[in-house]
Amino acid sequence: MSVFKAGLFQGKSVFVTGGSSGINLKIAEVFGGLGAKVSINARKPEKLEAAVALLKGKGIDARGFIADVRDFAAMETAMDAAVKAQGPIDVLVCGAAGNFPAPALGMSSNGFKAVLDIDVLGTFHACRAAFERLNKPGACILNISAPQASIPYPMQAHVCAAKAGVDMLTKSLALEWGPAGVRVNSISPGPIAETEGMERLTPDEASRQKVKAMLPLQRFGTKDDVANLCVFLASEAGSYCTGGIHSVDGGMALIGGAMMSALMG
Ligand code: COA
Repeated sequence: MSVFKAGLFQGKSVFVTGGSSGINLKIAEVFGGLGAKVSINARKPEKLEAAVALLKGKGIDARGFIADVRDFAAMETAMDAAVKAQGPIDVLVCGAAGNFPAPALGMSSNGFKAVLDIDVLGTFHACRAAFERLNKPGACILNISAPQASIPYPMQAHVCAAKAGVDMLTKSLALEWGPAGVRVNSISPGPIAETEGMERLTPDEASRQKVKAMLPLQRFGTKDDVANLCVFLASEAGSYCTGGIHSVDGGMALIGGAMMSALMG
């Protein structure tokens, strides 16, 4: 049951990169549940098909488009197909991201580059390809960032560098594209339950309790918490927000890197 008014995004078109799983799939589902036509994009056909089937099973007008965000031409082709099927894009969610835990000395040049390419170049590609295909004025771009953008974590040099890049891209595009009626914001989710990352970091109840005890709000977030922030920012209620980095993290950023260092250090 959504906290937002039914039909809030009726007739709107939403495009989500990396939309076949995790937080991004939930974002697609929540916008779809509010009436949006939803296009999701991913690399792997089986995962994409399963995600589209899940969304359709919930009565959502959902389409899937294969593309690697690192390939600009493929992004343009995917978005052309999405626009043809569902109309100009009202909301673009750039969620595709790469991550693996490794110390800087355990990372090859190519490993570092893979994450930078997916996160920074991929976000630029999606935004750049979307610009001509957005329903302007009034369109909204949401880039999924992370606390690593401003807080250094062990084993995350590549992700820290990449997400810092994503946040500066958000601010630069918000500056340049505001006059065209395009708002651009970053969303920074903290520890979110039932995600690949948190399952990996806290595989048992003892580790989960340890993390929760350190968090100001004493609980993990839910994927809905993140999706609800996206809906707020993309809706009329968020119409004066642009260029912001919006945390949905239970206060995790307030305790710096202490929690992650305890888990990963
Ligand atoms: N430790 C060190 N290096 C790693 C690694 C790990 N756990 N996983 C991948 N790499 C390195 C590879 O060794 C390779 O470098 P090399 O060519 O020098 O050997 C490089 O990363 C690229 O790997 P490859 O598998 O060819 O690239 P990819 O394009 O498929 O991207 C990932 C790899 C790991 C970045 C990507 O598959 C990914 O992010 N997967 C997880 C998705 C995820 O968790 N998303 C949620 C984000 S919070």
